[in-house]
Amino acid sequence: MCGIVGFTGRRDATPLILEGLKRLEYRGYDSAGIAVVNNGDMRVERAAGKLAVLEGRLAGEDLPGHLAVGHTRWATHGMPTTANAHPHTDTAGAIAVVHNGIIENATALREWLVGKGYKFRSETDTEVLVHLISDLYTDSLEAAVVAALRRVEGTYGLAVVSTHDPNTLVAARLGSPLMLALGENENFVTSDAAAVVQHTRSVVYLDDGEVAVLTPDEYHIVDLDTTRIEKHVSVVDWDNETIQRDGYAHFMIKEIFEQPDAITNTMRGRLLEDEGSAKLGGLEMTDDELLAIDRVVITACGTSWHAALIGEYMLEELAHLPTEVEYASEFRYRTPLVNERTLVIGISQSGETADTLAALREARRRGARTLGIVNVVGSSIAREVDSGIFIHAGPEIGVASTKAFTCQLVALAMLTLRFGRLRAMSVLQGREMVKALKCLPDLTRRVLERSEQIERFAETYALAQNALFLGRGYNFPVALEGALKLKEISYIHAEGYPAAEMKHGPIALIDEMMPVVCVAPRDGVYQKIVSNIQEVKARRARVFAVVTEGDEEITEMADQTVTIPETIDPLTPLLSVIPLQLLAYYVAVRRGCDVDQPRNLAKSVTVE
Ligand code: G6P
Repeated sequence: MCGIVGFTGRRDATPLILEGLKRLEYRGYDSAGIAVVNNGDMRVERAAGKLAVLEGRLAGEDLPGHLAVGHTRWATHGMPTTANAHPHTDTAGAIAVVHNGIIENATALREWLVGKGYKFRSETDTEVLVHLISDLYTDSLEAAVVAALRRVEGTYGLAVVSTHDPNTLVAARLGSPLMLALGENENFVTSDAAAVVQHTRSVVYLDDGEVAVLTPDEYHIVDLDTTRIEKHVSVVDWDNETIQRDGYAHFMIKEIFEQPDAITNTMRGRLLEDEGSAKLGGLEMTDDELLAIDRVVITACGTSWHAALIGEYMLEELAHLPTEVEYASEFRYRTPLVNERTLVIGISQSGETADTLAALREARRRGARTLGIVNVVGSSIAREVDSGIFIHAGPEIGVASTKAFTCQLVALAMLTLRFGRLRAMSVLQGREMVKALKCLPDLTRRVLERSEQIERFAETYALAQNALFLGRGYNFPVALEGALKLKEISYIHAEGYPAAEMKHGPIALIDEMMPVVCVAPRDGVYQKIVSNIQEVKARRARVFAVVTEGDEEITEMADQTVTIPETIDPLTPLLSVIPLQLLAYYVAVRRGCDVDQPRNLAKSVTVE
């Protein structure tokens, strides 16, 4: 989603901003722009499309200047045109603003500003901000921004520069991530540490309602009452090396292949073999507090929501804990029935998804205890929840989530162990699960060895218009995830369904043109899904099946099979999802799609 980079220092700002924006490309965007202040003058360049178009427009000319802001925009208000691209400037061209988020009272403010004679040149809500700041400017950019933000409703992460204050960068946050990155004789503002880690790892995360003022040599932070706030400086532990492609064609395939190491990192130091349990430092709950929990609600979006569904099956079956899963966007606007005995778990790779963050806040407001299962340390969700489990998957850059999903499942399995051993699980059951978890890195490696076979199978699907994914039990959410992966990156319409439910609708669509992907490892519902596959085959569909090594029954019926090693039922999704990730990847590559940055999608969805 939208990305912000701002710089004040002694080096040339333009190359730093462009380089930073490039590192944010993975987030997904559809236009880009830069504003540079130099000798009392401001130069702005913007372009619809990818950064390469903006660079083409600059034609090798580095706009001179040591103070600048840059932006990659993911359209919300108004089409992805050059006119709507950020930065937006005031009428005199003296103030420039880049903004992530949505100004909710933009229409009213716009009418008021038009009434005062301001002329608007874009359809964006952001342009309202810059005219408002300009209207309120007397002699300090900081004061004008604070005054403007007092009148604004909605969400923002923003950075502002002006020709009046040639060294000063002003930034503010409300509901949209933003951080300061502190260098030597230079300072940055960014919405994502990936943009600046090559320059400095010292960051200050802004909290909602805070305004930061930066010059090359100092910074200070105030709230909207202009009271000074002291903040802790954190150190980002991801470096640039960890976010390179390492020779892989795309981040997505690199991340798929990183899964054995990533899940090892999720488990590291957390499994207790003798006790058949798990030690989760960030949980910060005593046994008594855990026993007092009588209900769990898991809330998330996208792929994380699919992980949540598998978590529900695990917690109910193994820990006998009533669990529900809700889309965060629904949860936040319902009247969720939670209390102090409810644990509300938010699952989010980025830790910044606006709906998940808002759902957790709503849960907290209603007295529930909140827990985050998050990848990005220092993210908004990680900082706001009562307790947390970091998945330590390492940076995930490909927009389609892969390794975060499997690591989320490992975290949920460990949480199930922790709860389960206090309730329904015997020590022997616990030990069996710990043992099975420890085998997973090797087993996932074995599945990855099938990649060439899957690449060959993928050729068959490159021309498909539709696909149906079926699974049962623990592998029903895997079918949903497989369908999501395929549609996200290859733009083939795909639906995931519980295999038996297919009879109540999708079966009408099945013919020889509809490929059906069946996730059917040998688990408790194996015989049931065998019957469903027969129903599919009877209608001449081509079946791609994911089965357990040694399987004969389904292998005979299916047109193509990929095998996965045996494990305990609750952990089968960790293995069965990998062939589906690979299938989606190879189909998308074959169709010539932009795998890491699929159209219209964003890595981190920071607006509602
Ligand atoms: C976006 C991404 C998905 C992701 C979802 C939730 O839609 O494209 O890959 O699953 O957001 O993101 P989160 O960071 O909260 O897990």
